[in-house]
Amino acid sequence: MMDLNFKYEKLIKFLNSTAPFEPEIAIVLGSGLGEFSDSLETKKIFLTKDLPGYPVSSVEGHAGEVNFSVLDSKKLLIFRGRIHFYEGYLLSACILPSFIASKLGCKKLLLTNAAGGIKESLSPGDLMLSNSFNAISLKKELTQLVGLASVEIKNNFLNCPSKKINEIIKKAARQENIDLAEGVYWYTKGPSYETPAEIQFIKKFGGDAVGMSTVHEAVFGASLGLEVAAISCITNLAAGISEEKLSHDEVKKTAEKVMHKFSGLLKKVVLEL
Ligand code: HPA
Repeated sequence: MMDLNFKYEKLIKFLNSTAPFEPEIAIVLGSGLGEFSDSLETKKIFLTKDLPGYPVSSVEGHAGEVNFSVLDSKKLLIFRGRIHFYEGYLLSACILPSFIASKLGCKKLLLTNAAGGIKESLSPGDLMLSNSFNAISLKKELTQLVGLASVEIKNNFLNCPSKKINEIIKKAARQENIDLAEGVYWYTKGPSYETPAEIQFIKKFGGDAVGMSTVHEAVFGASLGLEVAAISCITNLAAGISEEKLSHDEVKKTAEKVMHKFSGLLKKVVLEL
């Protein structure tokens, strides 16, 4: 944490001095989900490449913007695109959105992602709320990340989705007539999609959807005192659950199709937070 304060001192100073307002809710938009930000009133757009010390995302579909936007009276900090561990960055770079959100004064963090569906009831195009995480492959790195957090957080650091926000999200989905699934988001390091054998393992141990992001951002955000929630867009059935070969194209295409529904839900949630 001290290290991050030092490492990103310039970046935080720059954002603090140029931000049009103090944001209250931060939202990270995952693969192909960036368009949500087009439906907001955006006051200021920063390209991440112009932010001092901000890591560069190389993933297609990740625009690399930090936007200050409003929706009615809600002041939002939107991360359009994220940094992935599989791009070769340290985890301490991947959690930058959570760090910035906390430093700029946000109290809440909404994470979105594209994920592969494992649970039988999930189909491509569904939305799934994370009620829990599994990040067994990241345990060591996560433990280091939350090393300085309080004992209470350390003891529960994977159980970080906020029950309060999850209830708000479920209610918003009902009001918008959106079927919102719920389940365990299982983190894998990537960059390769999983093998059918890996998915069988994950399924056996309780994973409902699988993806390569979010958990570390959530855990670290929670360790800084943010209330955190995560919603997945199920862009495909996980490897071996269907015969089809997985592709980033398919992930982006499904995300595009679901964008309208996802945007509607996010807007309702933001207004109720
Ligand atoms: N596996 C991992 N990450 C993903 C997937 C998947 O099937 N779909 C979208 N992101």
